[in-house]
Amino acid sequence: MNFQLTEEQLAVQAAARDFAQNELWAGVIERDEHQKFPAEQVKKMGELGFLGMMVSPEYGGGGMDTVSYVLAMEEISKVDASCSVIMSVNNSLVCWGLEKYGSEEQKQKYLTKLATGEIIGAFALSEPEAGSDATSQSTTAEDKGDYYLLNGTKNWITNGSTASVYLVIAQTNPELKHRGINVLIVEKDMPGFVIGPKENKLGIRGSDTHSLMFTDVKVPKENRIGADGFGFKFAMQVLAGGRIGIAAQALGIASGAYELSVKYSKDRKAFGVPIAQHQAIQFKLADMATNIDAARLLCLQAAHDKDAGLDYAKSGAMAKLFASKTAMDTAVEAVQVHGGYGFVKEFHVERMMRDAKITQIYEGTSEIQKIVISREILK
Ligand code: CAA
Repeated sequence: MNFQLTEEQLAVQAAARDFAQNELWAGVIERDEHQKFPAEQVKKMGELGFLGMMVSPEYGGGGMDTVSYVLAMEEISKVDASCSVIMSVNNSLVCWGLEKYGSEEQKQKYLTKLATGEIIGAFALSEPEAGSDATSQSTTAEDKGDYYLLNGTKNWITNGSTASVYLVIAQTNPELKHRGINVLIVEKDMPGFVIGPKENKLGIRGSDTHSLMFTDVKVPKENRIGADGFGFKFAMQVLAGGRIGIAAQALGIASGAYELSVKYSKDRKAFGVPIAQHQAIQFKLADMATNIDAARLLCLQAAHDKDAGLDYAKSGAMAKLFASKTAMDTAVEAVQVHGGYGFVKEFHVERMMRDAKITQIYEGTSEIQKIVISREILK
């Protein structure tokens, strides 16, 4: 087994680290405080190729592997998990799904712009009554011949107001249950499409999360991705890959909180010595480092599986399950290491603790990951 990264992968990792340190670090507290969308930073991410990393160069992407994507996600998430969720949704849920299952016309029209970051995309599956139970879609896409009539509401949509293109999951044939679901490409300016107010969130406050309302939106037939009834499989497929991205985000939050804790514990003195010399702190750092290394190996394993054409539903879910728990545990301990300073914004770890929580909820809660893993084991 080769654990060595290639020169290209190391270069991507270094570029992402430089970008995060030089362009994201300075304003991250302010963006979090004011729920400010990182518009300039997202533009720069597009220019640097971070928004369409795995898309083929033919469509304006970087043609990179999933391992490189995981490395970049970790580095960016170490500093700003709001930027990395925007990146993850665009790469994993929107670009990947479009490239894999979209028509040539859809790729030329949408993917070329999404991959370069000229526009960003959103993925709309969750509903007020359909989160974990994703098959229970109430949003309807009635077949009207040459168009679908879209009606319903979507909740908690990342890039909700900043996206230009939305992949919307909706039910066309309720009698067929999940096999009657379709996925439609909806443009922001289609009449009848209204974006709800911004959610005031615990974490990842720089990313914009909204509900979406559709009232008699006419979506042309050519905007359906894949065959009639393919929408649920599409959603499951993109989420399986998306979970690798969110696992890497969780890994990055954990690494960021850990690195700050190591630095702080060497600087901060108590009882006459740096606190790093106290075993109580050393044990915390050792636990953090061990869990982070294990989470990174799971992330890279899942990315490797995807790159090698192997089934990655289980390894991706395992990576997300473990990395998100590691993010939460590490961030809580990082606040503890920092003591009173950890409880104030200037020291960053309280934000990381808030950001960590969502990684145990979105793209499937931890409980959903266990369902996915156990089904794969038992099938
Ligand atoms: N690939 C392809 N097909 C898959 C699949 C996969 N990985 N997983 C399931 N399917 C297919 C099954 O084969 C089955 O198809 P057939 O019946 O035609 O054979 C179909 O999907 C239904 O599967 P299940 O019977 O297993 O479905 P279920 O209802 O029992 O549960 C679930 C499946 C795993 C619980 C699923 O509903 C799920 O993943 N829920 C969580 C949803 C989720 O992650 N939401 C996140 C929202 S997006 C988001 O968070 C983005 C963001 O903001 C960052």
